[in-house]
Amino acid sequence: MQSRVVASEEGKAKGLSLGSLRLLVVFVALCVVFSVISIYTIKHFGIESVVTTVSSSFQPCDEKHGGLEQWIKPPLKLIHNMSDNELLWRASLVPKIKNYPFERVPKIAFMFLTKGPLPLAPLWERFFKGHESFFTIYIHSLPSYQAQFPPSSVFYKRQIPSQIAEWGRMSMCDAERRLLANALLDISNEWFILLSESCIPLYKFSVVYHYVKKSKHSFVGAFDDPGPYGRGRYNPNMAPLVNITKWRKGSQWFEVNRKLAINIVEDTTFYPKFEQYCRPACYVDEHYFPTMLTIQAEGALANRSITWVDWSRGGAHPATFGRTDISEEFFNRVRGGHECVYNNNRNSSVCFLFARKFAPSALEPLLDMVDSKVLDF
Ligand SMILES: *[C@@H]1O[C@H](CO)[C@@H](O)[C@H](O)[C@H]1NC(C)=O
Ligand SMILES: *[C@@H]1O[C@H](CO)[C@@H](O)[C@H](O)[C@H]1NC(C)=O
Ligand SMILES: *[C@@H]1O[C@H](CO)[C@@H](O)[C@H](O)[C@H]1NC(C)=O
Ligand SMILES: *[C@@H]1O[C@H](CO)[C@@H](O)[C@H](O)[C@H]1NC(C)=O
Repeated sequence: MQSRVVASEEGKAKGLSLGSLRLLVVFVALCVVFSVISIYTIKHFGIESVVTTVSSSFQPCDEKHGGLEQWIKPPLKLIHNMSDNELLWRASLVPKIKNYPFERVPKIAFMFLTKGPLPLAPLWERFFKGHESFFTIYIHSLPSYQAQFPPSSVFYKRQIPSQIAEWGRMSMCDAERRLLANALLDISNEWFILLSESCIPLYKFSVVYHYVKKSKHSFVGAFDDPGPYGRGRYNPNMAPLVNITKWRKGSQWFEVNRKLAINIVEDTTFYPKFEQYCRPACYVDEHYFPTMLTIQAEGALANRSITWVDWSRGGAHPATFGRTDISEEFFNRVRGGHECVYNNNRNSSVCFLFARKFAPSALEPLLDMVDSKVLDF
């Protein structure tokens, strides 16, 4: 009744409705034909083939001819909604055949553990420029921080899903594991270096790359400190899993290879012990990885960090260098005057590839150091 009233009120409604009726008939007929075809297809080829056709037409780049690509491509976006448990599990999936059946250029994953901004980013941009096939970048910052890098930056969209990390607490190790796990999702990453916003590189990229690549060991600081800040922090409740003879201390700023990175992300054995029995004044980020890796793979560790830091001023925190500290002499001091063992048999004077801590005010003189070739990036 009502529709007829509406139709007659509109002048052209009648002619139109005849036309639409015809369209409707054609549509219904098409539907019937399509249904018959569908039913036939489902009966003869099973439901899966129909489902596959539909989903593959929605994600055309996901399954290129069912090839290997889908297994070896890095994730398109670093932002995901996996929980830590899901992420660590995913990152712990490991191929069991040693040789890669495809060309793989091993990369260094530079993992920046930061509060927010990267004030020294322009220096790092100079360092990375031209070496795009040999590195990847991951940034973990406070979850509230919104990065503002332009698309031309190497840091653009390199942020990973992050959570608050507190110095000396397990949440700090969680952040480091989160960085490792995200970086492991890219199968081309072979070495993983943890850095902070106050770190700088001391040598050009090719020197860093070859130093790390040619090393037989991973650069994890690990030493047996008999004093109160070393063995003094050991809790006997960790035995027998962690014997005091294997208790190690070391700088948080590590370099590990893919194998050790997987040891760290897959660990469900040591984690609960350290979480429960290494709380301030036991600073877990100084003990968990060095101790765990010493127990699992002591022969793989160089037992020294490649990040230089100056504790000579004393106190709980290392020295921070600002504008007035930066000079050629400063770099001669930081890069020279050390001796360390490289690959067991070789004494090397190149012991540190990175240094900290540098204040934002150091940026300008640091860039001058690059221009004057003191830092030869
Ligand atoms: C992630 O998102 C998917 C769908 O968008 C949802 O089903 C899933 O529960 C989410 N996972 C987490 C851990 O939030
Ligand atoms: C720790 O290891 C030493 C030998 O390295 C052994 O004698 C000792 O019993 C071990 N301690 C515990 C608590 O297992
Ligand atoms: C590092 O220390 C462990 C003992 O904790 C030792 O077995 C290993 O050989 C050391 N690594 C190097 C390169 O000296
Ligand atoms: C390395 O230096 C130490 C002393 O610093 C020396 O005893 C050792 O012989 C040196 N090794 C090599 C291979 O030069």
